[in-house]
Amino acid sequence: MPASIKRIGIVTGGGDCPGINAVIRAVAKTAIYRYGIQVYGIEDGFQGLIENRINPLSSLHVSGILNRGGTILGTNNRCDPSKHYIGNDERGEPIFRDETDQCVTNVRRKKLDALIVIGGDGTMACAAPLVKKGVNCIGVPKTIDNDIVGTDITFGFHSAVAVATDALDRLHSTAASHHRVMVCEVMGRNAGWIALTAGVASGSDVILIPEIDFSLDVIAEFVLSRMHRRRGFSIVACSEGAKPYGGEQKTSTVDRTRPEPKRLGGIGAWVANELGAMTGIETRHTVLGHIQRGGAPIAQDRILATLFGHHAMELLMSGAEGRLVVTREGRMQDADLLKSAGGQRKVPLDHPLIRAARAIRTSFGEYIKDAGHGA
Ligand code: F6P
Repeated sequence: MPASIKRIGIVTGGGDCPGINAVIRAVAKTAIYRYGIQVYGIEDGFQGLIENRINPLSSLHVSGILNRGGTILGTNNRCDPSKHYIGNDERGEPIFRDETDQCVTNVRRKKLDALIVIGGDGTMACAAPLVKKGVNCIGVPKTIDNDIVGTDITFGFHSAVAVATDALDRLHSTAASHHRVMVCEVMGRNAGWIALTAGVASGSDVILIPEIDFSLDVIAEFVLSRMHRRRGFSIVACSEGAKPYGGEQKTSTVDRTRPEPKRLGGIGAWVANELGAMTGIETRHTVLGHIQRGGAPIAQDRILATLFGHHAMELLMSGAEGRLVVTREGRMQDADLLKSAGGQRKVPLDHPLIRAARAIRTSFGEYIKDAGHGA
């Protein structure tokens, strides 16, 4: 049954990533050209929805943005409407207010029949109370981390992997020239998709991911054995969420006013220092950071983002409510947005890339009894 939709809003939440503009373009152009729907852009994520910063988006606004990095709407990973930070009390404790009713009021005021919500698990969790209060939201899974529950892939991931692979390739040549160990810390939060994929693509010697705890002793022995075999250098692709056996993840900052207070960071430097001291091999570290998130999407992400944006509109017009656009086994599908909200999809330990990497003697830094070389 086709839905009676006259106006929609687009909101982008959480950290930016390559391909958001390609989604905005596909949603807006499909809405305007195919369905004659009016499109509104919400500025700076849910902050703009709370503050009623909602502006018309014409086909001109979304022209020429397919290959542009970031989001033309602005985004915000500090704002959760159900727990909106409004200041500190006299003891310095953060005060939060539920602004979800304000969001619903602004949606109704602008006569928006639905929201297209482009974001990660956190953004979908922000949208969940609005869905429960009767605002139709269709989600589009965005994150370089590739960790959204329900979809095989998120847009932005392949662009981040391309950047990380290029960086690891560059570290390779300088490491080989100087006979050094190079540790490169990549993003990904609690999932190791970027480190695993870029690590395999670059032929990194050691790959450290949050799903597999590592032992520094094992890594030290491994890089020393490579020195003795006259390979003379090693590359370590290290996920920001990786941790040693019995240890904790390294955190760069904790800010209790953010929906996600902990920012990960520091494990690359720690691994490099420890390895240098244990092996006597000159060891350096590099943190790729937000370079992985900025810049133009690669072709694969432009295509995926366009397919996602188009599918979001087709879903909406077919009468869907509270759904997340996903891709499974290469086909566009949809899942329950509420079930995807807040979950994190980790790398399965039997993933083919892990098996292939182990077979070609890539180390994950785990004790051999855990390595499953026979798998
Ligand atoms: O979720 C995307 C991501 O880039 C993570 O990989 C990283 O841990 C985090 O965001 C960094 O967030 P911020 O932009 O707040 O530093």
